[in-house]
Amino acid sequence: MNKKRIFRLGVLTGGGDCPGLNAAVRAITKSALNDFRWRVFGIEDGFEGLVEGRMHELMNADVSGIINLGGTILGTSSRGDPWHYPVETARGRTRIADVSGRALGHFREAKLDALIAIGGDGTMNIALKFAKLGVPVVGVPKTIDNDLAATDITFGHDTAVSIAAEAIDRLHTTASSHHRVMVIEVMGRYAGWIALTAGLAGGADIILIPEIPFRWKPVFRKVRERNTQGKRFSIVCVAEGVRCPGVGVIIKGYDRKRTDPKQLGGVGAYVARKIALGARVETRVTVLGHLQRGGGPTAFDRNLATKFGVAATRAVHDGKFGTMVALRGSEIIPVPLEKAVARLKLVPPDHPLLMAARSVGTSFGDER
Ligand code: F6P
Repeated sequence: MNKKRIFRLGVLTGGGDCPGLNAAVRAITKSALNDFRWRVFGIEDGFEGLVEGRMHELMNADVSGIINLGGTILGTSSRGDPWHYPVETARGRTRIADVSGRALGHFREAKLDALIAIGGDGTMNIALKFAKLGVPVVGVPKTIDNDLAATDITFGHDTAVSIAAEAIDRLHTTASSHHRVMVIEVMGRYAGWIALTAGLAGGADIILIPEIPFRWKPVFRKVRERNTQGKRFSIVCVAEGVRCPGVGVIIKGYDRKRTDPKQLGGVGAYVARKIALGARVETRVTVLGHLQRGGGPTAFDRNLATKFGVAATRAVHDGKFGTMVALRGSEIIPVPLEKAVARLKLVPPDHPLLMAARSVGTSFGDER
C-alpha cells in the first residue's frame, strides 16, 4: 500500500438488513479515520449503489450516535447482484443481465482502493466474484439466520432470538388463558437456529426445524399428552424453512430479481391447521416476520459488529483481501471467502442446545 497517498475505502451493506449493521459501519468508519487517516465512502443500497455509481463520503459525524440504531444508514438491497441484475427494457419489461462491468467501472472511477462488504451468504458470494476480478475486498458476516459456516455466530442473530423469545413469552400467557395451541413461525431460511434458540429460551413445547424431519403423530401426541397432564395449552415454534411431511418447504412467492428467488413463509398457518384437525384442539398462529429484523441491536450484537468492523479495517490495512472476518471462539480471524460461502451452517443433530431441549422434554416431532 502506498503510504503517501490517502487510501480510499468503500463500504456497503448488502442483502436483508439486520440489527448491528450500523454498529459495523460505525466501527469501520471510525477505525479507518482514527487509526489510519483514510477516507471512507458509503456505497448506497448495497451492490445496487456500485452498479449505479451512488456513494457518498462518510465523516465522523455521519456515524456518530448510530451504534444503537436498527437498519442501515447506507440502505441495502436484496436485488443488487451485479451478475443477476434486473434491467428495464424499452418495452417496460424486466430482464436479468450481468452488469458487473458497470459496477467495476464505478469502483475504479471513484478511485476506491478497497471494499468492505457487510452481508450474508449472498453478499459474500458477490464479494468473492469481485475478489476474483481483482477487487481488494474484505467481507463482514451478518444475518439474523446465523447460517454462515465459517463463523461461530453472525451479528443480528442474538437480537432476532431475543425478540422471538419475548414473543413466545407473550404467547404463553394468552395460550394458557384460552387453553389453545399457539404456533409461532420464525425466520431463518433453511436453518433452524432462530427457532431452536428462541424456542428453548421461551420454553416452547414443540420446535420444528429444517434439520430434523418430523412426523405429525409425535406432534399430535405431545399436544394431547400435555392436555391429559392438565397443561391445556402448548407453544409450537416453527422455523419458516421446515419441511412438512408430504409437502416439503412452503414457499410464499418468487422474486426472480433475486439470486435466490424463493420467499419462504406460510408454514405456521399450515402447521396450526394440521394440529387443529389432528389433535382436535383450538389453534392460533403468529408470524413474527420482519419484527425479528427491526429495531436496535442487543449489546451482544453491537459489540460483535464493532469487533468485526474493526477487524475488517485491520484486514484491509494488512492486505488480507479475498477474506471474511469470522469469530472462532474468542478470536476474530480472516477466512478465505471461498470457505465462507462453501456451505450453510445448519443445526447439527448433537448440538448442545438441541440435546438440552430434548432433555427438558421439548418435542422435535421425530420421537418414536
Ligand atoms: O436472511 C434473512 C431473512 O430475514 C430470512 O430469515 C428471511 O427468509 C428473509 O430474509 C426474508 O427476506 P425479505 O426481507 O426479502 O422478505
